[in-house]
Amino acid sequence: MPEGADSEEQVLAFLAEAGDEVVSGEAISDKLGLSRAAVWKHVRSLRAQGYRIDAVPARGYRLREIPDRLGPLELRPLLNTHDMGQTLHCFEEIASTSDLAKELAEQGAPHGEVVVAERQTAGRGRRGRPWESPPRKNLYLSAVLRPELPPRRAPELTLVAAIAVCEACRQARVDAGIKWPNDVLAGERKLAGILTELAAEPDAVHWVVLGIGVNLNTEPEDFPPELRATATSLRIERGQPVPRALFTAALLTQLEQWLDRHAEEGFGAIRDAWRERSATLGREVRVEVDGGEVDGVAEDLDDSGALVVRAGGRRIHVSAGDVRLLRPR
Ligand code: BTN
Repeated sequence: MPEGADSEEQVLAFLAEAGDEVVSGEAISDKLGLSRAAVWKHVRSLRAQGYRIDAVPARGYRLREIPDRLGPLELRPLLNTHDMGQTLHCFEEIASTSDLAKELAEQGAPHGEVVVAERQTAGRGRRGRPWESPPRKNLYLSAVLRPELPPRRAPELTLVAAIAVCEACRQARVDAGIKWPNDVLAGERKLAGILTELAAEPDAVHWVVLGIGVNLNTEPEDFPPELRATATSLRIERGQPVPRALFTAALLTQLEQWLDRHAEEGFGAIRDAWRERSATLGREVRVEVDGGEVDGVAEDLDDSGALVVRAGGRRIHVSAGDVRLLRPR
């Protein structure tokens, strides 16, 4: 049950926890200390906001459908995390969730504070590229992290986040893989991207903001023509829309679990998990090295998270920049 939630949220959380089960009005009123009339009033109010709640005669209530919105009312009841998203800021429109998350981090936001928006007017990708952010279709989310890591290990967090995004996509039954360092692909097309930003001094990271964009319900015609050949969405891949609030909650759970694992077991466990989900290893790639481009085969991830590429007789450790997958599998 979310802490500090008002009684309407608590009724919703109770129904959401029960999944497909019918819950009696009596059980809800006993558990939440509300009168039966108050429970009924909240059920009516939730219905008016787009929740489909069945009233099963002589048995109780069952939550059938939640509205396709990413607001606190939709997300909070679905969150079973201890930190991630427990403080949640939801916007109908914002310039960039990462810009706000950075401001919040500067003002002292704790680990796990999250910003989500239905639309971004200035969504940013890596290397100053724009990130297409049409309204109410996808997920645009930024999370503040307070890792206890030296700055040289901060790039590991991008790989941790990529595993979490990949897992959430797989839970939505899409066969996703990771392209080093921060893209999640279905086949050869991009489903999701991660933008990692941080503030640090020489031996301590103050904060990290993970900005995550996942194409959930975009349809082919929603992509600008220049992206149609290279981008995809979960909806396109699985042939049916994704409940966005459920996906968001699943992603935050994955993120928390993989970050915890990284903190407890170190990078070794992450490296193995990344290798298992890689869409990069074994592929012919083009990488940027010393201002030029080199073609080779992606062989491994090294113990700092850099991509190891064999080019001619050399093994190059690539720790930054873009990687292009050369030939489709
Ligand atoms: C990339 O692949 O280049 C990274 C894309 C990151 C996009 C996300 S959407 C949420 C957050 N807010 C932003 O402005 N960017 C990130």
